[in-house]
Amino acid sequence: EGRRGARRSPLNFEAIRPVDFKVDEFNVPEGYSWKPIIRWGDPLFADSPAFDPKKQTAAAARKQFGYDNDYTEIIDIPGSEGRRAVMFVNHEYTNENIMFPPTMPIEDQREIGMINHGLTVVELERKNTASPFSYVKGARLNRRIVIDDAYRMTGPAAGSELLKTKADPSGTKVLGTLGNCSGGLTPWGTLLSGEENFHSYFRAEGTSPEEKRYGLTDKATVRGWEKSDPRFDTRNKGFENETNRFGWIVEVDPFDPKSTPRKHTALGRFKHEGANVIVAENGHVVAYSGDDEKFDYLYKFVSKRKYRKNDRRHNMRLLEEGDLYVAKFSGNSPASEIDGKGTLPSDGAFDGTGRWLPLTKDGKSMVEGMSLEEVLVHTRIAADKLGATKMDRCEDVQPSLHSRRVYVACTNNSDRAKPGKAGVDEPNPRAENRDGHIVEIDELGEQTSLRFAWNLMLVCGDPATDENTYFAGYPREHVSPISCPDNLAFDSVGNLWISTDGAPDGIGYNDGLFKVTLTGRDRGRVEQFLSVPRDAETCGPIVRDQEKTVFVAVQHPGEEGTWEEPNSYFPDYDSTLPRPTVVQVYKKAPAKGRGRGRK
Ligand code: FEO
Ligand code: CA
Ligand code: CA
Ligand code: CA
Repeated sequence: EGRRGARRSPLNFEAIRPVDFKVDEFNVPEGYSWKPIIRWGDPLFADSPAFDPKKQTAAAARKQFGYDNDYTEIIDIPGSEGRRAVMFVNHEYTNENIMFPPTMPIEDQREIGMINHGLTVVELERKNTASPFSYVKGARLNRRIVIDDAYRMTGPAAGSELLKTKADPSGTKVLGTLGNCSGGLTPWGTLLSGEENFHSYFRAEGTSPEEKRYGLTDKATVRGWEKSDPRFDTRNKGFENETNRFGWIVEVDPFDPKSTPRKHTALGRFKHEGANVIVAENGHVVAYSGDDEKFDYLYKFVSKRKYRKNDRRHNMRLLEEGDLYVAKFSGNSPASEIDGKGTLPSDGAFDGTGRWLPLTKDGKSMVEGMSLEEVLVHTRIAADKLGATKMDRCEDVQPSLHSRRVYVACTNNSDRAKPGKAGVDEPNPRAENRDGHIVEIDELGEQTSLRFAWNLMLVCGDPATDENTYFAGYPREHVSPISCPDNLAFDSVGNLWISTDGAPDGIGYNDGLFKVTLTGRDRGRVEQFLSVPRDAETCGPIVRDQEKTVFVAVQHPGEEGTWEEPNSYFPDYDSTLPRPTVVQVYKKAPAKGRGRGRK
């Protein structure tokens, strides 16, 4: 770090102004352009039909880009000099109200909706590293993975009684993935994706402590899949365990279109937002993961085996075996100073230390009264027993490869300190937390350490109207308002980038993507880079600042509208319907005939 703070990134920009929540525009800074790379329904394979929103079929959807793109990652294809890349995208859920004409039979909506969930792998190409990408229809690595595609369970709970069903007596082969939210790129070039709100796809008895703890109820689901396929109603004999087969971290090899994706039981089962991996100093790999539910927990997994450079086959198995921990935070200020409004305590910081409590260790359960398999399948209950800290909805949890610090996006928690609910504490200091906060964690010693220091680096909100916002000491009159942090990314010089989900409901601005300086005198400076159209959420940010380009997945544009009266026409603005889209933002080429470059 030089005298003037962190190394500068070539991706310079003047922060955009926040955009009112009724505006249906995609806004980028002066000097930048944007371009859709791939939209819901775009054809993936040589024989894929073109998208026709009025004539949708499940057969067509199998060969087209899915709905509600969330986690997105782009990996350059070796040897292509940056001209070809493979993109991985997951499709979290569907918005039937704006996808289908209301005259479409409900059975058809169900079938097409199902196929629009899952994963996509698609190749990209560009002329050179200064021009934007296009996707390549019919490319070799292109793949759709849908609800009837098989996944292999790995780890200690694979094959357990808790995972067996009539359709899969082995307890190792699961069809489909559900509620895929965020994810992460592993150091060995595979993708992880978190199965988050899987419970909403199931009807269950909902009476056991396990089903209750995971939000499973005996109510007809919104999408009604249980009417089409008996496994989505676990009251059906032989399918009692079907819900236990969701809520895992999924790993996909984007370079092998024939590979079977895996679900890793060693990382525990909960509403995984995603998972992010870092190689520890001692060679073990550490995966961080949040459970995105009000008052749920933050987790860390440490692999049994060590990472081996250039041994992809070996590394591909690192997440199959290891120890799982859950976080317990302690504050260093008196509880009486945490007033619930967000007033800083007298030591000037929400901060303290914490411990990683072992749930599993050396292939054994560390939780009294629960077997190893039970701890992994009913991880929330195991973590309850250890007294882990109830957080304000952990979304992305991402280690910086620059500083090794870990950043946790706590998106919000409207129930914090409500009657009958957990009260405020130093790591979650605001009652009815509307705008969320960012926790910064320093592992004390190596990345595998069981002790850490922490502080709240951002206490989010609109500083113009809320004086209990905090930006690591940076003057709050000089930051962009930010609310409901969700996904995290880093640029090449170690700045944190945050995308948001839910800002319109609180501060009244469209969601967006924000750069946050972490070091030097600008630490805590928040600058808005882009804003997404009406009702949309900003997902899957990728910041390639050396190439002066940024990618985001625009999820559920126009979500609050209807087929007949859309709220959004993003991205084509051609008066048809909104389409979830992966967008590239890039610096415009300087105008020809001016300045340098022309002689
Ligand atoms: Fe699907 Fe936690 O956001
Ligand atoms: Ca999310
Ligand atoms: Ca303190
Ligand atoms: Ca979210």
